[in-house]
Amino acid sequence: SSSRCEATKASFYNRKTVEIVDLDWDNLGFGVVPTDFMYVMKCSQKEIFTKGELVRYGPIELTPSSGVLNYGQGLFEGLKAYRKEDGSILLFRPYENALRMKMGAERMCMPAPTIEQFVDAIKFVVLANKRWIPPTGKGSLYIRPLLIGSGAILGLSPAPEYTFLVFVSPVGNYFKEGLAPISLVVENEHHRAAPGGTGGVKTIGNYASVLKAQKRAKENGYSDVLYLDSVHKKYLEEVSSCNIFIVKNKVISTPELKGTILPGITRKSIIDVARGLGYQVEERPLLVEELLDADEVFCTGTAVVVSPVGSITYLGRRVEYGDKGVGVVSQQLYSALTRLQMGLSEDKMGWTML
Ligand code: COI
Repeated sequence: SSSRCEATKASFYNRKTVEIVDLDWDNLGFGVVPTDFMYVMKCSQKEIFTKGELVRYGPIELTPSSGVLNYGQGLFEGLKAYRKEDGSILLFRPYENALRMKMGAERMCMPAPTIEQFVDAIKFVVLANKRWIPPTGKGSLYIRPLLIGSGAILGLSPAPEYTFLVFVSPVGNYFKEGLAPISLVVENEHHRAAPGGTGGVKTIGNYASVLKAQKRAKENGYSDVLYLDSVHKKYLEEVSSCNIFIVKNKVISTPELKGTILPGITRKSIIDVARGLGYQVEERPLLVEELLDADEVFCTGTAVVVSPVGSITYLGRRVEYGDKGVGVVSQQLYSALTRLQMGLSEDKMGWTML
């Protein structure tokens, strides 16, 4: 069967003789590093994905009339694999990504791979590219699953064919600040999402639409933009590429999920990790004033992990947190999460696997 063939391929590329590639591991940022293989699986009939396979990483053929190119019918995911000291590999919560893609696919009128197909694909592509996983402590292998309407369509309707593709790239820190606190500006003109829209799913259009405000923010010296809700313009939603948390009097709070905020897997994990450490964590509407009055602010995301926020600017008023140092709660949560992801602490929740 084709899955046996894939398993054989994966174990071939996972042989003990596979070494780590020669890269400048100390200076990894968050950019594309071409790797050896990607995983491709298509679905043309009866909403069932078949014939998935590992192929050489490289350009794909796509008809100009594809649904994704014309009408943005596409979703993506993001997760990471870590190399442990003993050479074994850990994936962090891949089932959560599989489930989120399934939910997003429903919203975007696309068929999705089954949970098992999704997780198997991740494992194959990670093992096949094992030599690109950074040494312990130097970063991780970022895994990018895509689900796109690849079939030809002209009138507006769901595409007749879909492609699920997974590629990987070794990454280090997301922000150029590294682990130092970032500066955010609250966006007042543009919104990322609206009630009834697609803010709560990982559709590709959510990300293209934030580029303009992000560009302007960067030109003004900020790291990124923090969005407010589009109805009242006073509740916090999220940053372009991550979720937001505040800490006040040791209580941790983050905006509740109500369809306009991306349900981050790191967000969810941090809530559980913080509660496990004894913190009170609240998911509720957060006013922008509470942000300005907070003791600490941090962002969470697969790409950004836990990124401390050093300053927020809102309507020209700049508030700084913790003398520009990393807040104690942010630091504690960052360590707890990354130790778990790297297999350095006991995984009581069963979040890591390969
Ligand atoms: C991630 O954190 O994995 C994301 O998908 C955000 C992306 C903008 C890098």
